[in-house]
Amino acid sequence: MTEYALLIHPSANRVYAESAVELAAAELAVFSDLAFGGRLTDIGTTVIGGLPYVCFTGDELTDRDLSTLANLSARYAFFAREGDLLRPVAAAGRDRFDSDLITIPKYAGKTNEQFTKLLLNVTALATTGSAGAGRSGAVADPLGPDSPPLRVLDPMCGRGTTLNQAMMYGWHAAGVEIDGKDFEVYANFIRTWLKHKRLKHSAEIAQVRRNRTQLGRRLAITLAASKEDHKAGRTLDLTMVHADTRRGRDFFRAGSFDAIVTDAPYGVQHGTRGQADRLTRDPLGLLAEALPVWVALLRPGGALGISWNTLVAARDDLAALLVKAGLKVADGPGYAGFAHRVDQAIVRDLIVARRP
Ligand SMILES: C[S@@+](CC[C@H](N)C(=O)[O-])C[C@H]1O[C@@H](n2cnc3c(N)ncnc32)[C@H](O)[C@@H]1O
Repeated sequence: MTEYALLIHPSANRVYAESAVELAAAELAVFSDLAFGGRLTDIGTTVIGGLPYVCFTGDELTDRDLSTLANLSARYAFFAREGDLLRPVAAAGRDRFDSDLITIPKYAGKTNEQFTKLLLNVTALATTGSAGAGRSGAVADPLGPDSPPLRVLDPMCGRGTTLNQAMMYGWHAAGVEIDGKDFEVYANFIRTWLKHKRLKHSAEIAQVRRNRTQLGRRLAITLAASKEDHKAGRTLDLTMVHADTRRGRDFFRAGSFDAIVTDAPYGVQHGTRGQADRLTRDPLGLLAEALPVWVALLRPGGALGISWNTLVAARDDLAALLVKAGLKVADGPGYAGFAHRVDQAIVRDLIVARRP
């Protein structure tokens, strides 16, 4: 048995105030349960040399195990504990692109990127029976270095924080956003970024019509992460639709996503956000209408993860909506440990549910 210590990223303290280590420990608990069959034990928090760490025990972790763990959203560095000393343990996660894909976009109303990664991780881990199924009764670890790409939808995607993180993992990403400005800003950003990085891609924006009725605009990009991927035909699809999420079935086929991940409107007036937020003073009402559509888009065994403001909607009420929509709420280790304060008007939490 080896004891490990995870040093969390300094920025996590800024994002989560006092809750950073507890959130990292909760995320690790989800990883242990769903990607490691409970092999990571004694998960806790500790202070070493004045800095907070998440500590855990594992039987000699393989390079592959460490690559999976390297995707933990708050990871800064791993160490094996040897007496009083910390031995650095090198590990690289799934990241396929330069980190500025995630860090360049900055705007009011952006969901923090580290939190977005956390939400994506704990939703992806809850999926079962994916293309590369392997573990007993569950999925092959979708965060493993060589696991096949998931298809991820953010049905209220803003300016694409989730899409960029999914793409960073080498996954197919799609988004729906009601705000036309957000659609345009994202379309401009991603096309400029792809050109700047000289990544092979094709991109087009088109009106989607049915029976001469305009349904919305769609940005459709096909890209390759490297020249080798391009040659081998390994491409990723990146799609964003400008439309109301309740019309999602107009744009995507039933059962076509492994994971649906979204940061719901907070139901508070963000000075700089426009009409959409005024329209969503009642996030629970919107979710009640949107959930049946989203569930139809999810394949059986797929998972849905939503973050929301608990000051405007109670966890039990949201859980009841998910159950009513035919989902099973994930209640394994870690999932109850993600509530944290964002500011005086927002105490954020997340909930994950699976389509049986
Ligand atoms: C909390 S923000 C998500 C921000 C996003 N994660 C980002 O980082 O850019 C919620 C988003 O939901 C969008 N929204 C609200 N109602 C919607 C609807 N009916 N259909 C689609 N999007 C909607 C808002 O415009 C807003 O961009």
